[in-house]
Amino acid sequence: MAAGVTIDILDLRHFAAPVLRPVLEAEGELWSQRLHWDYRASARLLMQYLDNHLLPGYAALEAGQVTGYAFCVYEETKAVIGDVFALPGRNPESGVDYDAGTGPSPGPAREIEEALLRHLFETLLNSPQVDRIESQLLLHPSGTHAEIFRKAGFEIFRRYFMVQPLEGHWSRPRIDLPRDLEIRPWRDEDLSAAARLISIAYNGHPDSLINDQYRSVHGSLRFLHNIVRYAGCGVFSPNVSHVVVERNSRELAGLVLGSRVSPQSGHITQLCVHPNFRRKGLARMLMSIAAAQFMRQGVSEISLTVTEANTQAIQLYEAEGYTCVHTFDAAVWLRDNTS
Ligand SMILES: CC(C)(COP(=O)(O)OP(=O)(O)OC[C@H]1O[C@@H](n2cnc3c(N)ncnc32)[C@H](O)[C@@H]1OP(=O)(O)O)[C@@H](O)C(=O)NCCC(=O)NCCS
Repeated sequence: MAAGVTIDILDLRHFAAPVLRPVLEAEGELWSQRLHWDYRASARLLMQYLDNHLLPGYAALEAGQVTGYAFCVYEETKAVIGDVFALPGRNPESGVDYDAGTGPSPGPAREIEEALLRHLFETLLNSPQVDRIESQLLLHPSGTHAEIFRKAGFEIFRRYFMVQPLEGHWSRPRIDLPRDLEIRPWRDEDLSAAARLISIAYNGHPDSLINDQYRSVHGSLRFLHNIVRYAGCGVFSPNVSHVVVERNSRELAGLVLGSRVSPQSGHITQLCVHPNFRRKGLARMLMSIAAAQFMRQGVSEISLTVTEANTQAIQLYEAEGYTCVHTFDAAVWLRDNTS
């Protein structure tokens, strides 16, 4: 940080949305450049919470101006660190503004972000009712804040942000299903069966270490509500999303869920297949249907995230033409680990 610059870290609930607007706008720019993601809907939601003084977190104040923020949300006894971001600021050596390029956060921004994170850690680690903390800072390249998370006792899991460009014209995907299965677009009433499928598909899976919602039907339902109902990850697209149904039991054998994260970018928010139906080409088929539907909507690229340890899924994505364009870290802290 430049000598002589004083930064105060204050409770985020003291601030209303307008004072954070420049920070959110700069962050939106970076989401758009780095991930082709339209951050405006998320920023609007955050501003509503800020205006209601409901968002737990911290703001960095420099010469009377808010230059960064970090927040968390609580889900029963778990806290999720939703975001941390600070304005790029000025390079103390050249006096030139840092640009919000594609590399890790530059020096001063990183230091402010770390100060904000340290305050959040202190609050959460000293809250006895919080027994688990999760965080996935999608925007920040892997390693940016890994050290400070590790020092606070978090375990880090590297994740990939992968992209597939969509080229050519829309064509009907080939559907070649066993007779006991049928495939159809997503319906709202699929929520419960989808939650059951997710909790089975992720049993013992590396992603259930990162997100404990995957470990139960109740948690998976919460995850699905966030994606399908509350636009927690772009605007849910029921036409892109498909389920494979087992004719006899009417349970789901597989599903793909998709959202629009900007006019030109689609995002696969979930893909899973029941263990009894794996290696039959279902995931590949679901992905090609989703891609065809995205293309029909005029989308020119699809992105998804995957944990580095999930080598089977990465193999599938690479075979489908996805490449890793960005990496980021998921972090998990458990109270039992440190006591
Ligand atoms: C990953 C997953 C969706 C694959 O479903 P699937 O229907 O079995 O996949 P497919 O049969 O369509 O396989 C397509 C390709 O993926 C790769 N693949 C899938 N499972 C694999 C495995 N167990 N080992 C190695 N490669 C595998 C292979 O390249 C395979 O092609 P091939 O069969 O021609 O060799 C499924 O294993 C699953 O639900 N896993 C748990 C949830 C998950 O990880 N979802 C992705 C989160 S990002």
